[in-house]
Amino acid sequence: MKFFIDTADLDEIAEAKGWGCLAGVTTNPTLYAKTGGKLQDFEPHMLKIAKLCEGLPVSAESTATDTEGMIEEGKRLAALAPNIVVKLPVCEAGLAACRALADAGIRVNMTLVFSAAQALLAANAGARYISPFVGRFDDIAEDGISQLGDVIACIGNYDWSGKNVDGEVEIITASVRTPNHVVQAALMGADIATVPMAALKKCVRHPLTDQGLASFEADWAKVVAGA
Ligand code: E4P
Repeated sequence: MKFFIDTADLDEIAEAKGWGCLAGVTTNPTLYAKTGGKLQDFEPHMLKIAKLCEGLPVSAESTATDTEGMIEEGKRLAALAPNIVVKLPVCEAGLAACRALADAGIRVNMTLVFSAAQALLAANAGARYISPFVGRFDDIAEDGISQLGDVIACIGNYDWSGKNVDGEVEIITASVRTPNHVVQAALMGADIATVPMAALKKCVRHPLTDQGLASFEADWAKVVAGA
């Protein structure tokens, strides 16, 4: 399973990229708002992320609410850089815009997916990536991981060649809150997990690793002292 970072913060992206295991970036209007960015800086900011992560898919979300607007904004976002993936919400307008953008050779990440039925519609509309949300189910005391399993199973049952520019559909586990979400997603065979920085850092750390490092350092200090 590949790791994406779920943020629009350039410093976080640069830090995670420095770890050598980052395969992409996802953003959304909320994540951009958190950076304090202004409306007129949105596209330049997406371009900065795309350049920082050259060759890696970077999802930039359309904020249009109708099909025509999504197509127009999607084309503009995709033209910023070859690694921009247009993110669209799964709804009637989003599906229609996804088909038009896919037919124009543009990669689409269909977001706000909460059911396997939505995922199947998105794949048929030409989505290159599908983002089922896990944590938001858990927030309302429902089982996000089992919903994710349904999406993976349904999408995995079919061959998507000819449906989008790459002929494949990858599942991005989204709305990830914990390392356990990451592990459960990988056990189910999700292609990707997009993880916010705080949860990514929790994935890196383990108390036994910290303890092991401390004892190695202490023992090595004794060797150095005796040299
Ligand atoms: C997906 O790409 C979204 O950006 C994201 O994962 C939403 O997560 P949230 O539920 O933590 O807002």
